[in-house]
Amino acid sequence: MNFKRNIVITGGAGFIGSHVVRLFVNKYPDYKIVNLDKLTYAGNLTNLKDVEDRPNYKFVRMDICDFDSFLKLMQDEKIDGIIHLAAESHVDRSIKDPFTFAMTNVMGTLSLLQAAKQYWESLPEKYEGKRFYHISTDEVYGALEMTNPEGVEPPFTTTASSGKHHLAYGTDFFHETTKYNPHSPYSASKAGSDHFVRAFHDTYGMPTIVTNCSNNYGPYQFPEKLIPLFINNIRHRKPLPVYGKGENVRDWLYVVDHARAIDTIFHNGKVAETYNIGGFNEWKNIDIIRLVINTVDRLLGRAEGEDMNLITYVTDRMGHDMRYAIDSTKLQRELGWEPSLQFEEGIEKTVSWYLENQDWLDNITSGAYEKYYEDMYSKR
Ligand code: NAD
Ligand code: TYD
Repeated sequence: MNFKRNIVITGGAGFIGSHVVRLFVNKYPDYKIVNLDKLTYAGNLTNLKDVEDRPNYKFVRMDICDFDSFLKLMQDEKIDGIIHLAAESHVDRSIKDPFTFAMTNVMGTLSLLQAAKQYWESLPEKYEGKRFYHISTDEVYGALEMTNPEGVEPPFTTTASSGKHHLAYGTDFFHETTKYNPHSPYSASKAGSDHFVRAFHDTYGMPTIVTNCSNNYGPYQFPEKLIPLFINNIRHRKPLPVYGKGENVRDWLYVVDHARAIDTIFHNGKVAETYNIGGFNEWKNIDIIRLVINTVDRLLGRAEGEDMNLITYVTDRMGHDMRYAIDSTKLQRELGWEPSLQFEEGIEKTVSWYLENQDWLDNITSGAYEKYYEDMYSKR
């Protein structure tokens, strides 16, 4: 079958990638979607059970650092678009093992770029109709000051259609023009990869796009990250390790809204541009933790707030960034994207999902999910 477009999504078995794959497979039956993933500890094919038998979906297990295999895949599948999400993504792991982060995030991205360049430049039409879309993070911009610790209305006019802004905890925001200033090995490795992507546009004319998104939350997030880890711990009445005083601020976006933004930008974004993605939704960690405890307790039929005693203040993360806050006005004005959910609604949906899918959490925490790939392919 001839498809209108042949797209590789890297990291499609991970948290955000699985939402992007699902959206593209369902919305574009005339596109071939190749999910390329190494299946590290963070990759989980059960995230995509609902689309794995679709005729426009294909899974390939591959390391993004494997230049020869990726070049062959591009040639065999006639790839014209790359949406690149594969990465090592957890700050705490990067503090323990920065080398793996440099290998995957920097060298892996460079390997994809170089293979794409070689394949696309070999075609008669060259870069015409091609796109290399790199998914990055707001963490590359560094950390912002907490100039308004009590919170004030943010100075932007665009907002989620369903509601209002949450408070802003400072006067400064990350803009597309903000100078890079990464602090953690994770954000340093993402910054390195972003620079390579832009360099391939500026040097070779590759049609690239970079987006920098704020913290995501929602279904299928690996339970080492704040929200799913805490939902799981509350469920089992295990301590909730709050780093430092719990006052660090993150700007949270529901993962499906990120996937929608990626769809919009992949199709309508301007080549060589950067777009910041975020929902003007700043929260102090401790306020999220209280909201999550209340929600889990209520949905499990416990007395609301009963599990507040699980909060355990622990030694702060090394180099812990104080505040992230994204200004996504450019994306909202130029491409008409806006978040669909307010945070309280998103948290309700998220907690409900984890509690309705406790076997997903149990499979991960027991390690059983890693067998799914082997079993699935040994059956074929
Ligand atoms: P994740 O850790 O859940 O998933 C990463 C996926 O990449 C996994 O499926 C893993 O198997 C795969 N992978 C890792 N190394 C690989 C390699 N060498 N070759 C092939 N596949 C490999 O991550 P996520 O939270 O879904 O993040 C996806 C992307 O979005 C990352 O690039 C991350 O930097 C970026 N991002 C994440 C957030 C967030 O809040 N999670 C926010 C902004 C940007
Ligand atoms: P995390 O989900 O790891 O995302 P990131 O570090 O990329 O922002 O952490 C979100 C915030 O929650 C961050 O300020 C660190 C904090 N945190 C805790 O206090 N305890 C935890 O156990 C974890 C995982 C995170």
